[in-house]
Amino acid sequence: MEKVFRNYDAADVKAAVREHYRKMRANQTYEYVGRMQRKYLTYDKPLGLWEAMASLDDLIDVSDPDLDLPNVQHLIQSAEAIREDGRPDWMQLVGLIHDLGKVLYLWGSDADGTSQDEQWGMVGDVFAVGCALPDTCVYPEFNRLNPDMENPEYNTETGIYSEECGLDALMLAWGHDEYLFQVLSNHATNRIPEAGMVMIRYHSFYPWHTGGSYSRLLAPRDQQYLEWIRDFNKYDLYTKSTKTYSLEEIREHYEPIAEKYLGSGPIYF
Ligand SMILES: [Fe+2]
Ligand SMILES: [Fe+2]
Repeated sequence: MEKVFRNYDAADVKAAVREHYRKMRANQTYEYVGRMQRKYLTYDKPLGLWEAMASLDDLIDVSDPDLDLPNVQHLIQSAEAIREDGRPDWMQLVGLIHDLGKVLYLWGSDADGTSQDEQWGMVGDVFAVGCALPDTCVYPEFNRLNPDMENPEYNTETGIYSEECGLDALMLAWGHDEYLFQVLSNHATNRIPEAGMVMIRYHSFYPWHTGGSYSRLLAPRDQQYLEWIRDFNKYDLYTKSTKTYSLEEIREHYEPIAEKYLGSGPIYF
């Protein structure tokens, strides 16, 4: 039987996934996201790439209904599938590191939802804050739990944004995508092409890239973003399997690529 991914039907999915999304929807407000950006975008914690990768051996993403393996295995599986398809070296690297922002749990807290136990400020599908939550979010019944939806400034389709402002002008729910994007944008020796940076930043924005919401806020160039994301997404989603790897066995292939696009020094998180 063919495996079905992203099945959130109550009977199938662990209660933990649903609970994760309930907390995420209730807590991720415009105010919260701004506070997390100020708190975590400090770029003062150096970590080598392989050290950072190894730390994800201890993290299982609670929001993922398809995978119970440590996150580092998902990263390697994604990268290896991109490599098997003969895709460009930078895209293989993006597959390998796209979830690396989850290292946030190393210095996160339960209160912020950025810890091993509380992951609602770190993983899961994201949405824009500062405007209405669309019903294309998973478990849309939780949308009403978000305090911003009581605020007339934030609860309309365009909210604080202007029409066609473009994706890059939106503030998205705080999580590993935006964190890694900002960290790498701040990384002096980052040479990952724009397409790769877009894959890193927006891969969890399902209500947009899969749900088709936020059309009034999109700019023409976002169509290109959508093509990049759709291309990447199949590797993020359909490569999940029980096959596991060691970091050591794949390092030989990816290390020169990482040095080419990121340099050899530490990354400042
Ligand atoms: Fe991710
Ligand atoms: Fe992923």
